[in-house]
Amino acid sequence: MCGIFGIITNQDISIGKFALEGIKRLEYRGYDSCGIVALHDSQLFIKKDAGKIDEINERLKLSEFPSESKLALAHTRWATHGPPTKVNSHPHLDCSKKIAVIHNGILENFLELKEMLEREGHKFISDTDTEIIPHLIESYMKKGDDLIQAVVNAVNQCIGAYGVVICHADYPDIIIAVRKESPLVIGIEKGKTTYCASDIPAFLPYTRQCYILEDNEMAILKAGSVNFLNVLDPDMPIKKEIINIEWSIDAAEKGGYEHFMLKEIYEEPVALRRTMKIPRTNLQAFAKILWSAKNIYITAAGTSFYASLAGKHIITKFLGKYIHAIECSEFQTELDDALQEDSVIIAVSQSGETIDLIEAIRWAKEKLKKKITVLCITNVVGSSLTRYSDESIITQAGPEIGVAATKTYCTQVLTLALIALEIARYRKVITKQEIDKYYDALKSTADIIDNYLKNNVSNIKDIVNNLDKSSNFFYLARGISIATAKEGGLKLKEVACRFIEGYSAAHAKHGPISLVREGFPIIFIAPPDETYQRLVGNVMEFKARGGNIISVVVDSDKVITELSDRTIRIPQPANKYYNIISPITFIPALQLLSYYAALKHNLDPDQPLNLAKTVTVH
Ligand code: F6R
Repeated sequence: MCGIFGIITNQDISIGKFALEGIKRLEYRGYDSCGIVALHDSQLFIKKDAGKIDEINERLKLSEFPSESKLALAHTRWATHGPPTKVNSHPHLDCSKKIAVIHNGILENFLELKEMLEREGHKFISDTDTEIIPHLIESYMKKGDDLIQAVVNAVNQCIGAYGVVICHADYPDIIIAVRKESPLVIGIEKGKTTYCASDIPAFLPYTRQCYILEDNEMAILKAGSVNFLNVLDPDMPIKKEIINIEWSIDAAEKGGYEHFMLKEIYEEPVALRRTMKIPRTNLQAFAKILWSAKNIYITAAGTSFYASLAGKHIITKFLGKYIHAIECSEFQTELDDALQEDSVIIAVSQSGETIDLIEAIRWAKEKLKKKITVLCITNVVGSSLTRYSDESIITQAGPEIGVAATKTYCTQVLTLALIALEIARYRKVITKQEIDKYYDALKSTADIIDNYLKNNVSNIKDIVNNLDKSSNFFYLARGISIATAKEGGLKLKEVACRFIEGYSAAHAKHGPISLVREGFPIIFIAPPDETYQRLVGNVMEFKARGGNIISVVVDSDKVITELSDRTIRIPQPANKYYNIISPITFIPALQLLSYYAALKHNLDPDQPLNLAKTVTVH
């Protein structure tokens, strides 16, 4: 939530242009207001307002700041405290209007701090928690601290999550960035320009060299260099390794597609091919731990949770032990009295920063004094989740900018399936030849999706036109495909703002079926697996009540095709080795359906209403 960008340079560049481009690349993190501050001649120049960046830029010319300015901070907001208004947008200032702060996160003790500062005479103008920070720094500076010491003291008084970036009109040579629980990365062009941002794509066009800030670390940015200190122990030396980012810039930009969501759906084959190359030693480490585990939990949020549901089915098939899938926000409540030592938790997250997941893991580790193993699957190297985990696997989806998760879902399911096959190898529950056949099926997912996207998508727009007037939908399935139904439905909800229920086709008879009338759209996920025959019965039940039946089937399907009004056909062989791959191969069609439905309803699929890519609030 909220995108942060900072730049300090000794080069002759348009600081405003860099700041604007920086937050444009972070717009997926929040897009209800934005602001930029540039420093020149001991003066802060600020432009900010509520609205999307492009609209505000039209009005305020966000790239135009004094041409000599060498320092700017920029912010794109996802409102938490106070509605999206000009006054609540960042940056926020202190009373003297010399200290500017941008912030991502939530300060839990802000009311308490606000009252304290008001007693000291500070005046607040916004509803935000962020505004506390410049006033707190000002308060410490009035007591004699220099800027760095004042920031150290201020952040140590704040309880909560923050990625905070600060500049001061009288300190034109530094930007200060501090993090606790909200991501911050530092990019560096040695000797020239230093950047900080809440995510790497913000500065990727300018540098691939970066540092990842850890909790309680402060970065002091100067033009072309950076120093680090720990705010809990400023005298402790910090050694940080520079990371070289290997993604292409193109991977973080739209590359000719109208939207990131469409581009990222079309990147699924490449992402899957890369994921097939995850080192086997990494997969084996997970497999070994799961094999010897007493209890196994898998936990995540949103799309990552649905990927976990699919993965859980595949792992259970080869592991022969039940895996408990629990949404991360309920993890503590559900397991408060039941979590046992020597359990293993698989935590799945695209961003690795979802706060409910991080809290669930932290809680479990603290409760059992670390006698628990955490395995994480995430798409972001160096994310918070990796730091709380004993073992990590990085999915190879590349940067995902569209707010709705697409390619990362496929790579998460594939990663879990690859771990399942390593378990099968250990347990010898199937022959080596069978393992090879399952492996080939997993490997073929990239080609199947490629083939589908190149040759079979033409009827998706017709289906969208046919469903144009419908605002309620069922997505129904059985077995492993319930995960596909839920994830497919979540996409339609998110980007096309339609109400859908993703449900078990069998269970839907116990209530939901009473909603069905003539023309009610029901999308059946119908791969040719062991649930198929029973699903045929469910399709008939809903058809008999007038449902408009749209089924997702494999190319060779006949029975459900006959019963359906329309079908979406996936070019996939029908045999038992391919049964495990339908959660991956069936999902692109449903993602495309949601994408075109969003366009049909004039909605921006990259920036769904009320959402943000990384949810760092509870
Ligand atoms: C849906 C979506 C969200 C995320 C959820 C978890 O399209 O993007 O539901 O899946 O917020 O995010 P991560 O995977 O980053 O933990």
